[in-house]
Order: sequence, then C-alpha cells, then structure tokens
Amino acid sequence: MHDSIKIFSTPYELAEALAFDLVNKIKEADKRKSLFTVALSGGNTPKLLFSLLGDHFASSVKWNMTHFFWVDERCVPPDNPESNYGMTKQAFLEKIDIPDSNIHRIKGEDEPEKEAFRYPGEIKSFTRLKNGLPVFDLVLLGMGEEGHTASIFPGNEKLLNSDKICEVAIHPVTGQKRITLTGKVINNAVSIIFHVTGKNKAGIIKEILERKEPALRFPADHIVPVNGNLYWYLDKEAGSF
Ligand code: 6PG
Repeated sequence: MHDSIKIFSTPYELAEALAFDLVNKIKEADKRKSLFTVALSGGNTPKLLFSLLGDHFASSVKWNMTHFFWVDERCVPPDNPESNYGMTKQAFLEKIDIPDSNIHRIKGEDEPEKEAFRYPGEIKSFTRLKNGLPVFDLVLLGMGEEGHTASIFPGNEKLLNSDKICEVAIHPVTGQKRITLTGKVINNAVSIIFHVTGKNKAGIIKEILERKEPALRFPADHIVPVNGNLYWYLDKEAGSF
C-alpha cells in the first residue's frame, strides 16, 4: 500500500486533475469491457468536480459501464438541498448519457434502518466480493475539519470496524441521521481518493500522513486500504502542512 499525495495550486486545478484521472480510469475499464463501480461522497468539496465532469467531460467517455453509488447520504428526500444524490444529479449526472439503472442512490427518504439494510443488496449485485465484502473500483472521500469521513464521525469508531456494509449514523452537531458505508467496505476498495481543500484541514492531514498514534482519533486516519491504493488530492491550502 502506498500513499500518493497530489497538491494543486487552486481548488479548480485540483478538481480538473481529478476529473481527468477519474475519466481515464473509466476509459481503461471500458477498454477492458469491465464494469467500473464508483462510490461518491457529498458535502461541498466535490461540487466543483461534479460540475466540471458534467459541463466539460460529459461526451469524452462512454458512461454505460460505470455504476455510481454513494459513500453516504443524509436521510432526506432526493429533492432536499441537503441530499448528496440531489446535488450530484444536478451538477453532473443529469448532464451525461448514462442508463438510470447505473445510478444507485441511497434512498434518504426511506426509514434509515430499513435502507441501511436494503442498500447492501444493491451494492452486492454490481460488485465482486473479497474478504466477504464488496469491492468498489473507486471510493471518493472527503474529510471534515474534525477528521470525519463518509458519515463516520469522531466518537463513532464502531462504524470503522462494523461487519455490516452500511450503518445508520447520526451527525454529532445537527443530529441529522445519515446512512454510510462502513470502514471495512471503504478499505476493501481498489482505489481510495481523499479529495480535500482548505487550510482548516491541513493540520489533520499532516497528523494522518505522519501516521502518529494521536491521529487515530480521526476516523479519516483509519482509511487504510487492505489491498488497494490510497491517494490524497489536495489544494495548496489543505496541503500546506
Ligand atoms: C457528507 C460527506 C462528508 C463530507 C465531509 C466533508 O455527506 O457530508 O459525504 O463525509 O465528505 O463532510 O465535507 P465538505 O466537503 O463540505 O468539507
């Protein structure tokens, strides 16, 4: 396992480079005629990436072999401004030619426990299993300024070691219910990319990359691929450690 750190001078250059690399991975999978499964995160940071993909890369790749899933979702309906799926659809997915059956959203409007039970079945229908867990080709993660990733927040470490594929989580500040992939499934991926911007996250990234004990208090520090590779895509601010 090796860490690869890429630092770009602006969030725009970062998003552009990430869009290129994502599209190249999809083209490679297309050449191999194999499905390419991607789990997307939400929040603010990926919005620029999604807009770039939708506005500038829509016709540069055939999307029919790509299946999009979500790393986590807020327990709200898809038309709610808080919806990760809703945001991604508007910025990216409704601008590309991809079968609806390739879009596997977490149904944030449904009863959380029920959906955390249902969604793994959909994931397993399109992914191969390794160590008894699904293998995503790519998992795109963000990181909160207190070190959370997906919807795995500090103090909720049990979601990192859960044997389940999805769990219900609660946002520690807002109390909002979330559905999230668990740590073991994320770490089972072929490629994991942290996409992070902003000076307020540089200190945590430094601690994580130094692999020092104290960093273990950050859920993001527990993202260590079992067989795959981990990449950090950072802007100059987040990389100013
Ligand atoms: C979510 C995300 C979450 C996000 C971080 C960073 O649903 O909020 O999936 O894990 O990646 O909170 O969010 P920002 O990009 O907004 O800082």
